[in-house]
Amino acid sequence: MQDGRKVVFSGVQPSGNLTIGNYLGAIKNFSGFSDEYKCYYCVVDLHSITVRQVPAELRKRTYDTLALYLACGLDPDKNTVFVQSHVPAHAELAWILDCYTMFGELSRMTQFKDKSAKNAQNINAGLFTYPSLMAADILLYQTEMVPVGADQKQHVELARDIAIRFNTIYSDTFVVPEPSIIKTGHKIMSLAEPEKKMSKSDSNENAVVRILDTKDTIIRKFRRAVTDSGSEIRFAEGKDGINNLITIYCAFTGKTVEETENEFSGMGYAEFKAAVGEVCADSLAPVQEMFAKYSSDKGFLESVMKRGAEEASYSARKTLSKVKRKVGFII
Ligand code: TRP
Repeated sequence: MQDGRKVVFSGVQPSGNLTIGNYLGAIKNFSGFSDEYKCYYCVVDLHSITVRQVPAELRKRTYDTLALYLACGLDPDKNTVFVQSHVPAHAELAWILDCYTMFGELSRMTQFKDKSAKNAQNINAGLFTYPSLMAADILLYQTEMVPVGADQKQHVELARDIAIRFNTIYSDTFVVPEPSIIKTGHKIMSLAEPEKKMSKSDSNENAVVRILDTKDTIIRKFRRAVTDSGSEIRFAEGKDGINNLITIYCAFTGKTVEETENEFSGMGYAEFKAAVGEVCADSLAPVQEMFAKYSSDKGFLESVMKRGAEEASYSARKTLSKVKRKVGFII
């Protein structure tokens, strides 16, 4: 609890251009929490260097990710929006939590297994302990709720286990967080291989629709989307391609699967793909317009991050002092 409100925390990495999966599965929903909850939204640059980055690009993407948060409707007067490396308590608590996180637990994380398969020449210790840094992000603010895409659920569950373990050893210290998986459109699949999740680092550009893609690009990517044999617009077991397009259509329009099936009954895949492309491009247009405005104003972005870091540090330091005292450090 903070100011009598429960706490929401989420983070987005400033690596790669974000996809409609990141948008529908997470960011789009962030602005809706601020009336009821005390919200922290973080650009997690410390997490990004677990994979090699080009420094100038990382810096640019950090500004851009912040601009995108604002473009998606996060009001910095109502939310604490900040950059992870600006609040040293994240790295400090992560080290302490590393000592309460088991090798076996980290070895079981599916993201670690996937990323180490993809980066076989750079399986560094940070990639392995990534989840304890994420636990630090969450636990520092006494977070109740963590809105994330389905792929991050396992990490939030590990943060819960770490919190419970620490609380059991030393008495209540951390609030035990809950993942909150966004319901509509939470699992957006690749347009080229619809049995796989849409991933911002996919090497096939046609598989991925990005928040900042132009209208023409979006329409073209949907036109090329892989669909199954058959022709009906109907959600059905095993029809991953058409199911994914229906999911995306519903997520952007707020319509149900049934409404969508009725709307397109008797029409073919080509017409439906065109409609999904239109709806997606039109829904993203206002976000893109706001992004252009914010990303060109570096001074403003810097003032937002500075203020966010001050607000976040204040709460983070309280938790960190408590933790240091409990483990036996002199503070
Ligand atoms: N690991 C998350 C992702 O890649 C990003 C993240 C870092 C995060 N710290 C977090 C998400 C804390 C929620 C809460 O998407």
